[in-house]
Amino acid sequence: MDCKHFGACGSCTIYGLEYSEELRRKRERVSSLFGIDDIEIFPSTQTHYRARAEFRVWHSKNGKIDYAMGNSTRDGVILIEECPKVSKDINSKMWVLRDMIQASPILRERLFSIEFLSVSNGEILVTMIYHKRLDDSWEIESRELEKKLDISIIGRSRKQKITLSRDFLTQRLTIKGREYIYRYYELGFTQPNPEINIKMVEWVIDRVESSGDGGDFLETYCGLGNFTIPISSYFNRVLATEISKSSIKSAKENCQLNGVDNIDFVRLSAGELMEALSGRRSFRRLKDVDLDSFNFSTVLVDPPRGGLDMDSIELVSNFNKIIYISCNPDTLKRDIELLKDRYSIDKFALFDQFPHTTHIESALYLNRR
Ligand SMILES: C[S@@+](CC[C@H](N)C(=O)[O-])C[C@H]1O[C@@H](n2cnc3c(N)ncnc32)[C@H](O)[C@@H]1O
Repeated sequence: MDCKHFGACGSCTIYGLEYSEELRRKRERVSSLFGIDDIEIFPSTQTHYRARAEFRVWHSKNGKIDYAMGNSTRDGVILIEECPKVSKDINSKMWVLRDMIQASPILRERLFSIEFLSVSNGEILVTMIYHKRLDDSWEIESRELEKKLDISIIGRSRKQKITLSRDFLTQRLTIKGREYIYRYYELGFTQPNPEINIKMVEWVIDRVESSGDGGDFLETYCGLGNFTIPISSYFNRVLATEISKSSIKSAKENCQLNGVDNIDFVRLSAGELMEALSGRRSFRRLKDVDLDSFNFSTVLVDPPRGGLDMDSIELVSNFNKIIYISCNPDTLKRDIELLKDRYSIDKFALFDQFPHTTHIESALYLNRR
């Protein structure tokens, strides 16, 4: 990928390298961190791989607006004229959107940032975040914009959210030859690189299939059911938990959309799940779920960058098989240090979710020694 902002923009920090060299360096980093040579690598496409993006809106003194990003020295912003990593759908509309906002004082004034979400079918969801109260005149002009560009707009300001038509998009993912439907809601967590996401879910299915264990499956940090729903068909029953109320709501909706009925999605933090499973605390949220009736064989964790807390380490240590998806090799290393005496790393994969950055997404399959 080439971009005129390489070197100045703080978003892409790796540039001027052959992609094969970038991957080699990432591989080398995890290999030396974990002392492992056998690492499966899943490269990304080189351009238009990001299905979501967020830009600041920069207002110049002459009234002109631009998209802006933090600069590479982290002490200011740069104005963005191209961004070849955003999806084709976002790219095809974001520039004309900027020009149309530019032409309208009502839409332009005190506009602080714009977030984009796409699902590879031409549709995009656009959230416009303001430092002013949004009134009827804003709504009238935004509806015009929505119609002209064939997009879905949400306006946000302090304690205010205006959804003009809808606040979600429908993503269709073909995983192992089967199509799954997901509702992706504005603000809900979604994996940024859809092609790599499919490969990650398929990789997990391969692990589960080859273990041939069946039994029941536990997942924490499940989000909207991205892994849970395709994986559920390999187990009798599934318990999947997550801290975010809105993600659990969409996970339940996604279950229905896919005709899946063997998953209990429950809003519980990882710590609360541990308290519930160990019998230390009972939760009204679990009143319809008989925890003792599960015969868990495998656990999947996909925590945020901070990795697992001590409760979660204790939780996963009760399982024979652990699948750990990580977006931060440093916290992953810290957590694996606590597990390595009891578990062997049987598979290690590197998924390049974030090309042109130093971020690394890894997946590990651990078996009790
Ligand atoms: C990296 S995302 C993974 C989501 C999902 N596995 C996916 O593929 O879309 C991490 C998720 O963990 C959730 N989360 C953050 N802290 C948590 C906690 N303490 N307990 C449970 N879930 C948490 C977030 O809301 C988010 O949905």
